[in-house]
Amino acid sequence: METHTPYRYKQLSDLIVGMIANGTLAPGTRLPSVRAISEQQRVSISTALQAYRLLEDSGVLVSRPQSGFYVATTRRGTLALPSTSRPPVKASTVSISGAVATLLEHASNSALVPLGCAVPDATLLQSKRLDHVLARTARQYGMRYNAYCAPQGELRLRQEIAKRAMRAGHALSPEDVLITSGCTEALTLALSAIAKRGDTIAVESPTYFGLLHTLEVLGMKAFELPTDPTRGIDISVLSRLLDTKPVAACVLSSNFNNPLGSAMAEIDKKLLLKLLKRHDVPLIEDDVYGDIYFSSDRPKPFIALDGGENTIYCSSFSKSLAPGYRIGWIMAGLHAQKVLEHKLAFSLCSPSLPQVALAEFLASGAYDTHLRRIRRILDENLARMTHAIEASFPGDTKVSRPSGGFVLWLELPKRFDSRALFDEALKQGICFAPGDVFSASRRFRNCLRLSAAYEWNGRIEDGIRRLGRLANTLLA
Ligand SMILES: Cc1ncc(COP(=O)(O)O)c(C=O)c1O
Repeated sequence: METHTPYRYKQLSDLIVGMIANGTLAPGTRLPSVRAISEQQRVSISTALQAYRLLEDSGVLVSRPQSGFYVATTRRGTLALPSTSRPPVKASTVSISGAVATLLEHASNSALVPLGCAVPDATLLQSKRLDHVLARTARQYGMRYNAYCAPQGELRLRQEIAKRAMRAGHALSPEDVLITSGCTEALTLALSAIAKRGDTIAVESPTYFGLLHTLEVLGMKAFELPTDPTRGIDISVLSRLLDTKPVAACVLSSNFNNPLGSAMAEIDKKLLLKLLKRHDVPLIEDDVYGDIYFSSDRPKPFIALDGGENTIYCSSFSKSLAPGYRIGWIMAGLHAQKVLEHKLAFSLCSPSLPQVALAEFLASGAYDTHLRRIRRILDENLARMTHAIEASFPGDTKVSRPSGGFVLWLELPKRFDSRALFDEALKQGICFAPGDVFSASRRFRNCLRLSAAYEWNGRIEDGIRRLGRLANTLLA
């Protein structure tokens, strides 16, 4: 049965990843032809090709026309990738709010070296330009926007969002979009509309701590799924879970999980959608990092692959343009009416003026120019940060290689305590995110997340060097 048999192409791709990890296949090595490997491994040609394509999608292999597939050379240093997580096979109640509040307080302290805050620096964002549009809108329309808007949000902004969704492969109308106060409210609305206290929600592991905090407040349990640092969740574990336990929803990043930066290949996304549909479990997708991709095209969100049939889409402008405007959106499909009722109860509507200013900015075309610029800068920041980590952290540190977003996930030896590092780093004026806040079962104490969202300068570089030195001292 499909649900219990590991997929053959997956077995083959795992074999290749293992051979790269243990050094048998060095960067730049040419792989056997599709025909040769299909004969060697006794799989069909289409299975072999599927495995190669999967690895190409996740950046492990590159294909060269007329020549074949090669192991990608690591532009981002030589440190190994973090291991695939192995969380406990049970749902956990979440108790994380104290740790999250403390982290957020330190992360917003501008006196600290900002490696803890996963929001781009205002100088990288088009802050001045956007402020200008906001001021002009306020001047032009006077008091018109000091009023409640429709609960769904300003029509002009919903139209711009619908246009962008069309470009990402999902056709919808402005009526399908509801404006929220950031992605946080979108996720809270989605979860509260389709699940209740005590329900189990399947999530990535590690996952964004804000999602865990929301689950805690809503009294829901988290089932953490094993997650690969490049390819995302292990579908076979989810499949076994769905066969044996009731699950109310699955919440996943559309692309570039925070903190791993992993993104599922399109073929895996389709398999996952099929699996969830068969079990009648809705998918809530979080696409806040989707516009910050380093490949030539934007990877598709889940909603573009199932037409929204079983998917609730959540996103915001917080990671790419305007974190302080607190504007996000949700496309809830079949659950739209319930989500609207909850929106009325939570906040009635979102502030109008920022919505109208964002709509103007999007309509002017400035957002796309801006995105092209910050993608390049953030990709460079990640490469610089990886090299700085390589130069100063313990030699056996493992580092993620994100294909989008702007955070790095570091894994140190098991005995390493990132909480002790956190306390010492704060004393030295450096902030980062310790690993355990990314897990409901408080795993990953030997891991940490560093943000590369600020303009690269001597202060950041020196902060990483000092953090690396501290990590070496703590390990010794
Ligand atoms: C994965 C993820 N989702 C949602 C959010 C919150 O987004 P917003 O600021 O739009 O509420 C964050 C912020 O760090 C995030 O990393």
